[in-house]
Amino acid sequence: MTMMKRGLAAVAALMLTTGLVRAEDVEVLHWWTSGGEAAALNVLKENLAAQGIGWVDMPVAGGGGEAAMTALAARVTAGNPPTAVQMLGFDITDWAGQGALGNLDAVAGPGGWDAVVPAALQGFSKYDGHWIAAPVNVHSTNWVWINKAALDAAGGKAPESWDELIVVLDAMKANGITPLAHGGQPWQDATIFDGIVLSEGTDFYKAAFIDLNPEALGGPQMADAFNKLMKLRTYVDDNFSGRDWNLASAMVINGEGGMQMMGDWAKGEFLKAGKVPGVDFVCIRFPGTQGAVTFNSDQFAMFNVASDGAKAAQGAMAVAIMDPAFQSAFNVVKGSVPARTDVPNDAFDDCGKKGMADLAEANAAGTLFGSMAHGHAAPAAVKNAVYDVVTGAMNGNYPDGAAAAAALAEAVAAAQ
Ligand code: BGC
Repeated sequence: MTMMKRGLAAVAALMLTTGLVRAEDVEVLHWWTSGGEAAALNVLKENLAAQGIGWVDMPVAGGGGEAAMTALAARVTAGNPPTAVQMLGFDITDWAGQGALGNLDAVAGPGGWDAVVPAALQGFSKYDGHWIAAPVNVHSTNWVWINKAALDAAGGKAPESWDELIVVLDAMKANGITPLAHGGQPWQDATIFDGIVLSEGTDFYKAAFIDLNPEALGGPQMADAFNKLMKLRTYVDDNFSGRDWNLASAMVINGEGGMQMMGDWAKGEFLKAGKVPGVDFVCIRFPGTQGAVTFNSDQFAMFNVASDGAKAAQGAMAVAIMDPAFQSAFNVVKGSVPARTDVPNDAFDDCGKKGMADLAEANAAGTLFGSMAHGHAAPAAVKNAVYDVVTGAMNGNYPDGAAAAAALAEAVAAAQ
């Protein structure tokens, strides 16, 4: 056992036994309901079970977590929050601002979290200088997952630019498959849009989605981004509306679809289906976004709970999540990369190794940005305003990109 692990174990043991407090079962609210997600969740459940901590499952299906956040609000309003909640970005700091979250400093301090969790994540795991959530991973949204056989049949070259992307999509169409496997749900449309906006340039992404600059939101580059989204709409199948993201992944897995533009949780589905990167599928950054990353990090926020047993369970769960060996085991299955900078990449497949290297490179280069689609660029009100316009554009509500960009600038201004 390393010194640090010994320290963490001692803290957990102390919390569990001080005053004869026994950790209660943890009730965990999450939206990890697909095959790959459930497999990753099992890694966490089993880890806690090995420490004698029981699991009460509260799954609320729906990628991006919108439905889960609605369910959470109802529980908090009723004065009965779950022990731990999967949460993204600004949702965490918003709840902290309302004084609803507990304090994890007692485990974060001895665990040395300050030194190993990237600053970009700490911005959401800490509030007012105190740890309020334990980050379990780093996902990123600017990925494309391509069926290898379909790519080979379409010329074999993974696209590196928008023009090359269109060539491949056209070839896949000519080959009789659905070029772009997609589910028409606002968060999925917005996930693709993260990649498109980033491909317009890192300065542009920052100006539009982080700084919410009205000129960037309503200007010609945003118009171009919307025109690209509308172009991509021509490559989806007739049944795309409302489809769950993992069913779109399944289309690429079985060759009915050519590619999916989705965060790296999609890789969890490919792995669950026994597929191998480089052999059965290819992972690339959204063409034109190489060197930059739009990230989101799943964190477990711990709500204020009354009993010492529930508090002990929260501490033990947070310690388990932050264990380097757990971060490796969990993220290998989930498709994401560790939320700590000191976890070796040995256990990861080629896409995971690329994900870890890309994250480090983007962080060093200043090209690591929070994902708008997944709550790390702006608070929920702005995110939802972006969803509305992006989904409207995907569904033909605007005559052209310029009209959509104008609507976006207006919607974001109204939401602030
Ligand atoms: C979460 C992922 C999850 C995905 C689809 C994202 O917002 O960060 O962990 O797999 O939604 O459900």
